[in-house]
Amino acid sequence: MPWPCVWCLVVVLALLPACGGPDKGSGQTSSETIRIGFLVKQPEEPWFQNEWKFAQQAADAHSATLVKIGTTDAEKVLAAIDNLAAQGVQGFIICTPDVRLGPAIVAKAKVHGMRVMSVDDQFVGPDGAFMDVPHMGIAAREIGRIVGRALDEEMRKRGWPAEETAALAVTFQELDTARERTDGAAEGLAAAGFPRSRIHAAPQKTSDVPGAFDAANVALAQHAGVKKWLVFGMNDEAVLGAVRALEGRGLGAESVIGVGIGGDTGLVDFRKETLTGFFAAVVISPKRHGYETVEHMYRWIKDGIAPPRLTFTAGTLVTRETYEKVMREEGRLD
Ligand code: GLA
Repeated sequence: MPWPCVWCLVVVLALLPACGGPDKGSGQTSSETIRIGFLVKQPEEPWFQNEWKFAQQAADAHSATLVKIGTTDAEKVLAAIDNLAAQGVQGFIICTPDVRLGPAIVAKAKVHGMRVMSVDDQFVGPDGAFMDVPHMGIAAREIGRIVGRALDEEMRKRGWPAEETAALAVTFQELDTARERTDGAAEGLAAAGFPRSRIHAAPQKTSDVPGAFDAANVALAQHAGVKKWLVFGMNDEAVLGAVRALEGRGLGAESVIGVGIGGDTGLVDFRKETLTGFFAAVVISPKRHGYETVEHMYRWIKDGIAPPRLTFTAGTLVTRETYEKVMREEGRLD
């Protein structure tokens, strides 16, 4: 949806009287079924599939009903909220496809008398500031710094001289959590002595593997002479896209050190028999983001206890040698 339309919607929804839904101000009676919605922007991404999996576990543990809908654009988000309301859902958790939809989402939830909490990507208001809506995200900048330090450490282990090495930053500047992650990684590298002038940005148009692949190819064509690359980005997908682009130029595991964020999509490379440039990942927790947000929403609906305003979860660095233990502990490996 183009920009002006988003704001028309915000205005229209904000003007509607909040009389369309039941008053849920003081919690539900215990006999009523609790129904919770969980909307995600990229349902095909393993991160979101895992988030849903753990969300379902939390709903089952409380005998609550969970309604999961993939909402890949603004229209789908707004239609899904109506759909949830029609199903008697009393509150929902959302990772929105566009954080600027926050005001429209909040207004629509209000019309239906539903509670709303954001996960992963925090709503941004018309003034550009984060909205005051309960949110669980990752500690993006700190996790980015872990990525930067890991890249530096591995580069040193391999004895790569900084003047022969460059870093490829696959960026997605319009999303705050993404920008924080890549800024944090650049900061981590720079703090370890890596020259900022050798960090090259590859802005992705879409935050998926093909988007990163295309972005990396453009940047690599501009720096064709570089033969040793460090790679970072907002998630595993961003790094994998760049790693695939580097492979297309004949640069594999010996010439590339990629460190992702996530742990889900990157697993595929860890499991390959031959090493790839996807060297490590900071594992973050879809379990906390899925399970805990549903628990918070459940308590909010049932007992009127509002979720914490802000929770930022941590990450753990893994390589192909160490990922199994960490992932198994989280229930993410069969
Ligand atoms: C964003 C990214 C996802 C994942 C989550 C984690 O939404 O798009 O891939 O990294 O953050 O919070």
